[in-house]
Amino acid sequence: MELTKEEQAILSGSQGNTMAKIMKTVVEFGDVFGAKRLVPITHASHFVTSFGLGLLKPLYRINDEIIKAGIKTKEPFTIDPRPIDYKNVKCSLLNKLIFSKIMYSQQKAYEEQLRQIGLKDDNSFTCTSYFEEVGNTPKYGDILGWAESSAVVYANSVLGARCNRNSGVLDLFAAIIGKVPEFGLLTDDGRKADWVIEIKTSKLPEAQILGSAIGLKVMEDVPYVIGLDKYLGSELTDDVKSYLKDFGAATASNGSVGLYHIDGLTPEAKKFGKKLLKKDAKVYEITDEVLDKVYHNYPVLWKNLNAKPKLCFIGCPHLSTQQLKTWSENILSELAKKNRKRVAVRTILTTSPQIAQAFAKTDLCRQVTKAGVRISSICPLMYTNNPIAGKKPIITSSNKLRTYSSSRYYKDAEILDIITGGQR
Ligand code: F3S
Repeated sequence: MELTKEEQAILSGSQGNTMAKIMKTVVEFGDVFGAKRLVPITHASHFVTSFGLGLLKPLYRINDEIIKAGIKTKEPFTIDPRPIDYKNVKCSLLNKLIFSKIMYSQQKAYEEQLRQIGLKDDNSFTCTSYFEEVGNTPKYGDILGWAESSAVVYANSVLGARCNRNSGVLDLFAAIIGKVPEFGLLTDDGRKADWVIEIKTSKLPEAQILGSAIGLKVMEDVPYVIGLDKYLGSELTDDVKSYLKDFGAATASNGSVGLYHIDGLTPEAKKFGKKLLKKDAKVYEITDEVLDKVYHNYPVLWKNLNAKPKLCFIGCPHLSTQQLKTWSENILSELAKKNRKRVAVRTILTTSPQIAQAFAKTDLCRQVTKAGVRISSICPLMYTNNPIAGKKPIITSSNKLRTYSSSRYYKDAEILDIITGGQR
């Protein structure tokens, strides 16, 4: 990689040994991917590692060294959700013990390190930092050094920012240097589509299953989706952005998609249209049958397939304001239809702290919590990803959570029916 004089000087130690090591790591990362240069990051960072796992000792040592050297990120950063929320997501004593003494034993100390390095504020723990309510919203063309896969794919696709799927720690180093290596999704060529996805379904597909089908097919390639604007329209309304958030997270977790284009809808597709297609782009047709097959092939990892669900998580990635409202209204109206006062399954709606705080002031929140639903800003995956919680029959409408845990996936309408007392 060709470095500027200033970058070369940092590499040689002009800003101290720690900065030199950070620069060396970023440069070597770029070399591996054939980057020719570093380019400035133009928007605040968002980190993926939000959990104080006892096992992450090397990270804590790195942070200690950074703090000792008086180094901070160029801009205050946001970060993924916390793994625990004892107030809203109750744990058994044993589970609490495992969380506080074994799994997330370093949570408090790690958060203190984050504060010293440049954490924006105590409300900065969410994977949907790009929503306006949270305020870490990149604009079209911004260069980012993010790593959270669901946020990267949203920023690239829906906002038109430019970001590779970086790793944890690399996001920290890039935020300190204020630069990232230029390759992949940062380049015009890297943003061209390898696949044409033709939507030939009878109705708007379930976002999570469509994302899953596309992710499984294209893996890390860039898909250009044709025919979805027929259902979603040509404007990025709140409903559409929520749909694309969930769709993108599924493409990124069932495959490793970092960018997608939706014909007639997402910013680059609107600007460049089919010029974004590579000459040899492959074609994949999505029909109702394809989606049914994908859905019915999801493995169910519960020991007892007939177990009654004990817990339900909705909101991975975190719900938007509009989704939180819609889910709450739907739960209340379905309970009323079934003549019930409370949900049949302990249900947690997860959203960012900002959205949760605003929602807490509404009558809708009072009603839905009275019906037994809890609002939390936890990361459901971090909560479920342990041997004790992993044994519980947990249900979710998130394909990402299904993919990385033993939670069982149901479509939105099915989940609504189950949590409001419907029998299966
Ligand atoms: Fe967000 Fe945690 Fe899901 S970071 S996308 S709630 S796994």
